[in-house]
Amino acid sequence: MLSSNLSVGENGHLYFRGHDTVALAREYGTPLYLLDEVRIRENMRMYRRAFQESFGPAAAPLYASKANCFKRIYEIAKEEGMGIDVVSSGEIYTALQAGFPLEQAYFHSNNKTDWDIAFAMDHRVGHFVVDNREELDAIARIAGEKGLRQKILLRLTPGIDPHTYEAVATGKVDSKFGTAIETGQAREMVRYTLSLPTIDLQGFHCHVGSQVFGEDVYERTADIMLTFIKDCRDEFGAALPVLDLGGGYGVRYVESDGFVDIPAAIARVAAHMKAVCERLGMEMPAVHMEPGRSIVADAGLTLYTVGTVKKITGYKNYVSIDGGMTDNPRYALYGSRYTVYLASRPEDPATLRCDVVGRCCESGDIIQPDVLLPEPKRGEILAVCTTGAYNYSMASNYNRLPRPAVVMLTETGHYLAVRRESLEDLVRNDV
Ligand code: LLP
Repeated sequence: MLSSNLSVGENGHLYFRGHDTVALAREYGTPLYLLDEVRIRENMRMYRRAFQESFGPAAAPLYASKANCFKRIYEIAKEEGMGIDVVSSGEIYTALQAGFPLEQAYFHSNNKTDWDIAFAMDHRVGHFVVDNREELDAIARIAGEKGLRQKILLRLTPGIDPHTYEAVATGKVDSKFGTAIETGQAREMVRYTLSLPTIDLQGFHCHVGSQVFGEDVYERTADIMLTFIKDCRDEFGAALPVLDLGGGYGVRYVESDGFVDIPAAIARVAAHMKAVCERLGMEMPAVHMEPGRSIVADAGLTLYTVGTVKKITGYKNYVSIDGGMTDNPRYALYGSRYTVYLASRPEDPATLRCDVVGRCCESGDIIQPDVLLPEPKRGEILAVCTTGAYNYSMASNYNRLPRPAVVMLTETGHYLAVRRESLEDLVRNDV
């Protein structure tokens, strides 16, 4: 099957982390997000081990919590010794509620408001990743008002095209994120930053894109960033010990997708960086990366109940499910591929070619087109795999559909981590 936490039980049902998905759908209702806690922990440990082995003790992976954010995930990150990347006061607040030590948090975003900045400082968020000059001035001013010296990284755009889809390519010079190296603006920003008494410049950050498979993307990025660090040291004499290379390693959504051996990829990047540092006569920085998708994607699976099966003679077939672009907007937004199984009979002959579509009033509400399935009957359970990243975190209430529950799976049991929204929840803020 697509990933090692999927299997078929003796009753012929699809199992996820050893649990019968059909039984889980009956118990918790659908649509339902399942998250394999064992796999999340395995992925976090895999990153931590790879970083220790390849980069040494000063290096650390941070979980990019935009990929999937709720209290329990931050508790798991804390237990696994992961730092976190947060992008809003909402994520900071959620981490805070989970008891996550915020000095291990890196606050991103290309447009932090004064309110966000003050909120993050009041809760002692360890590091700000500063996108641009205007934001830097606001952070310096608010730190001054609070009598703080704020640790920051500057987010730079190295001018790298990671060859992924446009919506997630962020390292090019004309990106809305960061400050460009190529134009000379990054260098000016460093000069200026070093003159600010309320700012403690620790180093640099870049993130070239997401769902990245390109062999040498991180090596090429590191080349540019290390050269920049060296130039800054020569010109300004500043110690800039931290380099954060962002997130982005790709995951497998369908059988034909590639597969990144992440520890091997990290070892290659580290070896390359060591050689470059030697050549440039500089010390290896403390390296961070911010994986999101590759921590949680394959830990996720969404269950739906089949409703209408519509056959338009001579044209096409539709299988409608009880969720849609509200719980998984990724096909609608990016044309993303997914693997779909009929959870009650995954091994029956796949005889129906169909589009799996949602229940929203919108033709583009497609979970996956052109899927081959055993012909499903109304009431049967459908499973969409690899939905752990950017599904729950991107869910909406379009058409006033309540967001699904999130259920965590362990080796021995399962438990509710996020309650299903109720109809009352939908009107809670209406005055
Ligand atoms: N660091 C920064 C600064 C980022 O902007 C991102 C993702 C990450 C780390 C984590 O990247 P990852 O390891 O998850 O690829 N909604 C889109 C993905 C948007 C990614 C945004 N930034 C999707 O569903 O494909």
